Amino acid sequence: MSTAPVLSAVDVTKHFVVRGAVGDSAVVRAVENASVDLHAGRIVAVVGESGSGKTTLARMLARFYDPTAGEIRLDGVSVSGRPTRAYHQDVQLIFQDPFGSLNPVHRVRHNLDRALRIHDRRMSAAERRRRAVELLERVSLTPGEDFLDKFPHELSGGQRQRVVIARALAVGPKVLLGDEPISMLDVSIRLEMLNLLDRLRREDGLALLYITHDIASARYVCDDVIVMYAGEMVEGGPKDEVIARPAHPYTKLLVESSPDPDRVGTVSRDELFDDAEALGEPPSLIEPPEGCRFHPRCPFAMERCRSEAPPRTDVGGGHWARCWLHQEGRAHEIGESTFAAALTRRDEQVRA
Ligand SMILES: Nc1ncnc2c1ncn2[C@@H]1O[C@H](COP(=O)(O)OP(=O)(O)OP(=O)(O)O)[C@@H](O)[C@H]1O
Ligand SMILES: [Mg+2]
Repeated sequence: MSTAPVLSAVDVTKHFVVRGAVGDSAVVRAVENASVDLHAGRIVAVVGESGSGKTTLARMLARFYDPTAGEIRLDGVSVSGRPTRAYHQDVQLIFQDPFGSLNPVHRVRHNLDRALRIHDRRMSAAERRRRAVELLERVSLTPGEDFLDKFPHELSGGQRQRVVIARALAVGPKVLLGDEPISMLDVSIRLEMLNLLDRLRREDGLALLYITHDIASARYVCDDVIVMYAGEMVEGGPKDEVIARPAHPYTKLLVESSPDPDRVGTVSRDELFDDAEALGEPPSLIEPPEGCRFHPRCPFAMERCRSEAPPRTDVGGGHWARCWLHQEGRAHEIGESTFAAALTRRDEQVRA
């Protein structure tokens, strides 16, 4: 990528200290040494199962959480201390539940008006109304006038999420961080919402982070994919490369669980992991597995995977993975059979 990133996480780690009932405490290693660069006009998808650290990463990028280690950079400048209002305007976070993000006792007009006032205090009331209509139409709520006086509960889920996006745009952001922005919406409108995100990055040059469980929806909309597992980034690169030729066994599992691009947004968490029993439990983040965190579930795991964390291997064209198979000359095995077949083979070997 030739242009400089707008927003970056550089080697960020987030540990949460949780206290037990009897005054004991434990550390949840939610995100470990994660890095991502967001560029104007591009969409990066972060994919991973529940608890893999996606939201924690987004909250660090939005500066709702301070990283335990590592840094966040906006326009190349490391940010620290109390986040400024300007930062929160530049970097907007959109949540899963549009109901939760809109003030239910206020009409759409008021919800947008507040953001517009924050953006530009000198704007007159008439100007703000004109801008509100424009923003609504920007997110395909047309005619915008018809939506100004609605309350959030009078809108469909998709319309509500569009209002949330319009409000995010009202403050003139450079970056939108979408934390599973379509997962609570009807399947029938998910594609439209992805098309809207796609339009915003093309027409407004926004840098987007798109968080999802569903690698099929990532395939539909993004440029680059990053796969997270148990708090760590295990693979990343251009979407087509990562999805066509996964270089990490976990990515392979995700892709095979969601093979059909036409099923965008329809894959549930349970469906993704319907072989959960064979796969075993997701790891504890309080005492994560030694070595590669995926090794207890990995059909290709070797001795080394149990004790040493794999280094990042570049596999070409900006595509990389953290997996020992690459260092041991066994990477071809990832592509040779399905994940399920490899898992069955492993279990047979264990029994033999
Ligand atoms: N404030 C917190 N205090 C303690 N632990 C937390 C906190 N926030 C998140 N965690 C833990 O950190 C880990 C990562 O959580 P996170 O919400 O980032 O995952 P996620 O990938 O967004 O999951 P989901 O797909 O379910 O939204 C989980 O084990 C979670 O329980
Ligand atoms: Mg989350």
